[in-house]
Amino acid sequence: MALLERRASIDVVPTGTLGAEIRGVDLARVTPAQIDAIKDAWYRHDVLIFRGQRLSDDQLLAFSRHFGTLDPPPNQGAGRKSPPGYPEVYVVSNVRDAQGEPIGALGDGEAAWHTDMSYAPAPPDASMLYALEIPSEGGDTCFCSMKAALNALPPALLERIRQLDIKHDGTYDSGGNLRKGLAASDNPRTSVGTPHPIAIAHPVSGERALYLGRRRNAYIMGLELDESERLLDELWSAVESVVYRHRWAVGDLVLWDNRTTMHRRDAFDPNARRIMHRTQIKGSGAPQRAAF
Ligand code: SIN
Repeated sequence: MALLERRASIDVVPTGTLGAEIRGVDLARVTPAQIDAIKDAWYRHDVLIFRGQRLSDDQLLAFSRHFGTLDPPPNQGAGRKSPPGYPEVYVVSNVRDAQGEPIGALGDGEAAWHTDMSYAPAPPDASMLYALEIPSEGGDTCFCSMKAALNALPPALLERIRQLDIKHDGTYDSGGNLRKGLAASDNPRTSVGTPHPIAIAHPVSGERALYLGRRRNAYIMGLELDESERLLDELWSAVESVVYRHRWAVGDLVLWDNRTTMHRRDAFDPNARRIMHRTQIKGSGAPQRAAF
């Protein structure tokens, strides 16, 4: 990894695929100049990796608030899971408490490629995940560049989708679990969700990205179902053009732009413990259609 730049005493080191590692910062004591440098790096690299951090939930929340107002955790199959007294922290974990209740969401299974809460009218701008306990193997999180995915599309396909919208299904979480309180549905036309443009422009950088959300129950508005399925399959074939795989260590914090990336997670040993604390930043608005 080559050093890209040093600013406000932090080093920005690109991963070589998507994202950059930020070195030389203690997120519990971050300065305003470092926050500016981190934001600049974030807009350019979309995924930022901070290793070796030691953060309490209060410090995680304080760092998260530099990026905007916090969103409450999503409604997952296990419900909204937060540590006591921290409703803005979302626990992602397979661990169960003494009563056998999961302390967090998503269990130990694979989580499919997704954008966080793209079924909402104004999905979160950003999310961050902080590792407290990790299994010795498995449970890697992968991030893909949706800017690269859009750039990989042939011109005729881009022309075809530039005015189209996808309805983003809100029925299932990325582990395939029915969200608490919702009715099961495998009908992409009628399942609950919100339509957003397929090609969006980032509100700060203006860069264009493909905005696919989740594959299950996705539906391209106005098309016959079989045509929508074919077109979605074509678009999804570009998703893995540029991917960064994160192998977690305790103390890693990863921040991602939820508008220009998607992420997925590998399954891991059900007998191992994995505890992550996540925060997410409220959406600054509905995703905006890209101009071509
Ligand atoms: C998530 O989808 O936010 C969770 C990813 C992970 O558990 O690594």
